[in-house]
Amino acid sequence: MTTQSADVAALHRRFVLTPWSAQAHLLMPAIERAEGSYLYDVDGTRYLDLSAGLVAVNLGHGEPHVARAIAEQAARLTYASPQFFNATRARFAQRLASHAPWEDGCRAFFTTGGGEANEDAVKMARAISGRHKVLAAYRSFHGSAPGAGSLTGENRRWANEPGMPGVVHFFAPNPYRSPFHTSDPREECARAIEHLELVLTYENPQAVAAILIEPVVGTNGAIVYPPGYLAALRELCTKHGIILIFDEVMCGFGRTGAAFASLKFGVTPDMITFAKAVTSAYVPLGGVLVRENLARFFDERPLPCGHTFSGHPLAIAAASAALDVYERDGLFTRANEIESWIRFGLAGIAQRSPLVGDARGVGAFWALELVKDRGSKEPIAPWQGAQPGPLPKLLADLRARGVYAFGRYNIILITPPLTIARAELDEGLHALGDALEVFTCN
Ligand SMILES: Cc1ncc(COP(=O)(O)O)c(C=O)c1O
Repeated sequence: MTTQSADVAALHRRFVLTPWSAQAHLLMPAIERAEGSYLYDVDGTRYLDLSAGLVAVNLGHGEPHVARAIAEQAARLTYASPQFFNATRARFAQRLASHAPWEDGCRAFFTTGGGEANEDAVKMARAISGRHKVLAAYRSFHGSAPGAGSLTGENRRWANEPGMPGVVHFFAPNPYRSPFHTSDPREECARAIEHLELVLTYENPQAVAAILIEPVVGTNGAIVYPPGYLAALRELCTKHGIILIFDEVMCGFGRTGAAFASLKFGVTPDMITFAKAVTSAYVPLGGVLVRENLARFFDERPLPCGHTFSGHPLAIAAASAALDVYERDGLFTRANEIESWIRFGLAGIAQRSPLVGDARGVGAFWALELVKDRGSKEPIAPWQGAQPGPLPKLLADLRARGVYAFGRYNIILITPPLTIARAELDEGLHALGDALEVFTCN
């Protein structure tokens, strides 16, 4: 570490609280600039961004059209109350609707991030249905603030407890570690739905406002549900008058190979929450797309949601320009091409390292699940344990090899920018393979 980066590290540790981390021993590069698929630290060291930040920088770093749009918007209008009408905001919502799965249209409510979007979606679902319970899956992440954190189905919820009342968790399919004691995807799907029906019976379906689910599980391991599960969930919701909310904060905006995962899997929810890649993460923005027949509920009743930064002009300018780039460069579907590159690369890594228990995903949304032993599937760190285990050591070694990737416990996310070149991706996956080869998990 040079004097310059050591100085930044010391200043940071002294004055900034870094998310989800014990502060004293943090050892991260001091990032100064970024371009395309690469981040650069204050010493000029380059890191390939194999996780697109936190699965968000879908257009790569510093896309000039978006950067220009932000600068132009800053010169024109940086803020007006969200209650004012604004043409850029309205046109952007109209364009978003054209990519959404509903034939009867939708309206957008804007937030600053994904967790807030989930909280607002739940609030709207409760208002519309007149019911109060919300079902969400274990092993999900829906945000960290008290409301969204209560919806989260893993240990990042615990600090919020007792949390928001009315939230009930259920088990969703997990083909690699089936909660339903089967390795047959069809059986996994059928048993998961049977389980959910049972949970509904005991919770009273007439009291359930919404089921909230990530159509592909994100930070907890790029878990793709067996065919038919999301469709069966849709049927169950329709049967009981429950509002189905897809949390597409991570899997929206081209990550799975379609504008929304809903389109990729051909299942239509009632609301979609989004954030992250809507602006390629350049400016914070999130939101809820509400199907037109539900949005109408608020025509004569006040919408019970609002934020100072709802539809912030800079964020909307960034999002409109990002959408131009998604459309111009065919990036909503480019993940379909990237998928085969990642699949091939990860298969090679799995051959080289016995620590790879599972390599799975869809589009440009993949994860490696690391285990001590493929037979027993014992994870390299206790899942949900108080300590992160040896993974940070592996990720630090990877950074020393010029590659950044994001992970927790025994999961590493391979979710590159959708603009990545094959040679760049291969460079990152080779480094990952090399790092795994010398990694010991004790
Ligand atoms: C699926 C999902 N939902 C919600 C969130 C929370 O979004 P934010 O951090 O913008 O509040 C995340 C963040 O990683 C996420 O992955």
